[in-house]
Parts: sequence; C-alpha cells; structure tokens
Amino acid sequence: MASQLAKIRTVAFQGVEAVPVDVQVLISPGVVALSLVGLPDKAVAESRERVRGALQGLGLALPAKRITINLAPADLQKEGSHYDLPIALAMLGAMGVLPASDVAEYFALGELSLDGAITQVSGVLPAAIAANTHHAGLICPAANGAEAVWAGDDMRVLAPATLLSLVNHFKGSQVLSRPVVAAANDHRAVPDLRDVKGQETAKRALEVAAAGGHHMLMIGPPGAGKSMLASRLPGILPPLTAAEALEVTMIHSLAGQLPEGQLVRARPYRDPHHSASLPALVGGGLRAKPGEISLAHQGVLFLDELPEFQRSTLEALRQPLETGKIMVARANYHITYPARVQLVAAMNPCRCGYLADPTRTCGRAPQCGTDYQARISGPLLDRFDIQLDVTAVQVHQLAEPASGETSAVVAARVARARMVQQQRYAGTGVALNAVADGEVLEQCARPDDAGQQLLNAGVEKMKLSARGYHRIMRVARTLADLDGSDGVRRLHIAEALGFRRG
Ligand SMILES: Nc1ncnc2c1ncn2[C@@H]1O[C@H](COP(=O)(O)OP(=O)(O)O)[C@@H](O)[C@H]1O
Ligand SMILES: [Mg+2]
Repeated sequence: MASQLAKIRTVAFQGVEAVPVDVQVLISPGVVALSLVGLPDKAVAESRERVRGALQGLGLALPAKRITINLAPADLQKEGSHYDLPIALAMLGAMGVLPASDVAEYFALGELSLDGAITQVSGVLPAAIAANTHHAGLICPAANGAEAVWAGDDMRVLAPATLLSLVNHFKGSQVLSRPVVAAANDHRAVPDLRDVKGQETAKRALEVAAAGGHHMLMIGPPGAGKSMLASRLPGILPPLTAAEALEVTMIHSLAGQLPEGQLVRARPYRDPHHSASLPALVGGGLRAKPGEISLAHQGVLFLDELPEFQRSTLEALRQPLETGKIMVARANYHITYPARVQLVAAMNPCRCGYLADPTRTCGRAPQCGTDYQARISGPLLDRFDIQLDVTAVQVHQLAEPASGETSAVVAARVARARMVQQQRYAGTGVALNAVADGEVLEQCARPDDAGQQLLNAGVEKMKLSARGYHRIMRVARTLADLDGSDGVRRLHIAEALGFRRG
C-alpha cells in the first residue's frame, strides 16, 4: 500500500519567541520501526513512548509499518515535552483516525500521560500568539485554555483534557467549547505606603526611585522597615500598559508560573531568597526557563540581604541591569529573555546588623561592618543611583495612627514626573532618567551655576568617580522633574547628594 503522511504545527521556544515547527508523520511500508528525527532532545525522544501509550489508551496500536516522525526545520533545537500532543495528532492523521486536513489547520502543544490525559505545559500563550499570526488555531491542554484565548478573540482554541475527547470532537460526537478568559486577578493586595510610619526620608527616596526608575540600596539594621518599604514600590509605579502586561504574561507563561491562565496586570514584584541558585535567578537549567530577573521584567526585583547572595550571582546581574536583557547559555547556543527590572536591595550594615547602634556593643566593630559592606563589588554598587541609610523609627511612633500619604497620592506624582521624562526624551531611545547617559544626560541635567558649584564640591569631598558624578546628575534631574522644574537647580543637587553614602 502507499505511504500516508500527515502534519501539524507546533513551536520551539527561543526566549519568548515561539518559532513554528512542522511535525510530520510518515507511515510507509517496510521494516517495522518508529524513528524520530529533527534534533530532538531527550525529553522529546521520550515522546515516542508516551504517544504509544496514549494511543493504546484509545484502543489503537501503532501500525506495524515503518513510521518516521520528522520535526522540521531540522537545525532548530527541540526541547521539552510539549511535542507529545502534536506527534500524537499527526500520527492519528497519518493513521486515518483523524482527518489530516483538519489537523493541519492547527498548532498543537501539550504533554501526554500514558493514560491519554493531556497535561499542562508552559509557554502556551506565546505559542497561541504564534499560531494566530500564522492564521492557525491552537490545540492545548485544558489547564492552559484560559491562557491561550488571550491571543485573539476570534481564534479557534481547543483545550481538551484527554486525547479521547479531542478525537471525539473531530469526529463530531462531542463538541469542545472555546475556553473562557479567566478574570484578571486585580485584587491581589498591594501593600500601601500609608502603613509606613515616619521614615519620611526613605519614603521620599522611594518616590524618587519610582519617578526616575533608579535602582535603590537601603542599608540598615533588622526591623528598620527595609522590606516593608521595598514591597511598596510596585504600588507607586504606573500600571502596566496592555502591551507590557502581555509581554510579562508571556514570560510567566514560559516559566510555567501563570496560575489559572490569568493575565498579569500588576507590576511584578519578585524577592528571591539569597540562597537561590544562579539558574533560578538569571534563568537556565533544565529547559532554560526564565529566572527571577525575567519574572521581575517591567517590575521590581528585591534582593534582601544583598551581601549574602553568591558573588557569582551578583556579578551575573550586572549585565542585565545595563541592557535590560539576560542571555542564558545552553550547550551549543544561547537564548535571550527580557530582564528590565528596577532593582531594590537591602542589607544590614554588618553581619549582626547592629553596627553603630548605641544601645549595643560589638567587639568586632567597626571592622566587621567594613568587611561586610566590601562584599558588594564597586561596579555593582555603582548601579545604585540611590543609596540610603534606613534607621528604625522610635517605638512610640509605631503606636501612632498611620497619617502619611497613600500610595495613590504618591503614584500620581510619579506618573506626572514620568510623563515629563517621556516628552523630554522622545526619540532619543531613553525612557527614564535612570538610563540617561553621555550627551543626553549632559544636556538635560546640567545644573545652574550654584548647583554646579555644589556638585563640584560634593564630588571633591566624597571622592566620587565619573560614574558617581553622573548618578548625582540623574537623581537631581528626577528631583527637578518631580518639582516641575525645567532646569536642575542647587536644591536638587543638594538633595541628590544626600541620596549617596560617603
Ligand atoms: N516605619 C514603620 N511603620 C510601621 N511599621 C514598621 C515600621 N518599621 C518597621 N515596622 C514593623 O516592623 C516589621 C519589620 O520590618 P521589616 O520591613 O521587615 O524590616 P527590615 O526588612 O528592615 O528588617 C514590619 O513588618 C512592620 O510591622
Ligand atoms: Mg527585611
């Protein structure tokens, strides 16, 4: 008899990009064999066994013929277990169980268990978007259906729980309805700035950081309120735009961290523990998932107890902080994930945390503090435009009712200052003061004469490097923007100098 061929499309992930892959199954006369070609990794090679098991669950045996599964293009690395479903569907097409022409109109991804259940996979949203741009429908696991429908209102999405229900759908004996969009989880409680009592300087610094996109380092003893302050930064940043929300959701989808398929609408806030491994932080490891720095994309990355992080991890953060992207190396290629974050770090002034606390004495002070702080390399320290000592408020202040401004009030000022920056930097490729540099910075942040004098004196006194000098200018520019002032003036320089440690 003649050969039978069927094909369906799926995707290979390259960073957040889902690249179309053809899955072709050819059943031809000849020696009984089942081969899989086209640069599959180990997990993909194991698909053969899961597909065999799932078909058995349908009461189907693989034909006793020569079966070739080809993944094309061949030069694209295929990683992961989401190839099970497309392979099974192309197989069923070639066997004549499903109409091959119907199957060809879809992209598919999903993992199969031996009993024919289709189990959840990561990356369904980017796959759905790829399918939609190729005017195809998408077949994905039931658990990922809510996520897939974000890709397009009129796109065909099938999200069966089992292979059997999918076969029945194509036969017409059971109709799979389109998954419904999950209501976005907007009610997640974002902590409010109003809860923070006193701490006027720290709150002001947080507002400045938010307005200009500046990275911020807080140094202070345990219980001073550093974590409390950091967690309130997302609440004073502007909401994500629709495009940003989709981009962030795609990354969380790839990481398999999209509960119930909801679109991520709130600015991400990630606070990985200092014991987190390098791949957990920057991405990589098995299947090259995005790391914390990418999960924090467009949001806040909070690193508490900064000196406790492995040195190699901290060094690996330097490049993405500069470029907004992280490169993850694989065996013989690399992928890139977005990683534009606002970094907030906190640390104790010394190992025990009570350096300079008059109520406690320590035999190792002050050398212990010097050593501890030296764990942060100069180049990393240079990334923090705002460096701030945070001391605990007095106990009696904690007992008073909260009387400060709410996050909403501060957020409005932040939004205004960001608008000013957007207009000023239009067409320059710069978005916020934090990334203004060179010529652009010189032009926009040049202080008035009195400001320049103070800046020069400050640089002299604090022995600042050229980088330190520019950092002061950037922060001063943000202060002027919050003020609604066109020019950077002396008082802006003075306050900016205060956001620097000696
Ligand atoms: N300024 C403050 N206003 C209200 N509560 C505070 C303040 N500072 C500290 N606290 C209380 O102390 C706790 C510890 O603060 P935390 O942010 O964890 O300190 P740190 O991270 O500096 O060790 C907070 O959960 C909060 O209940
Ligand atoms: Mg803390």
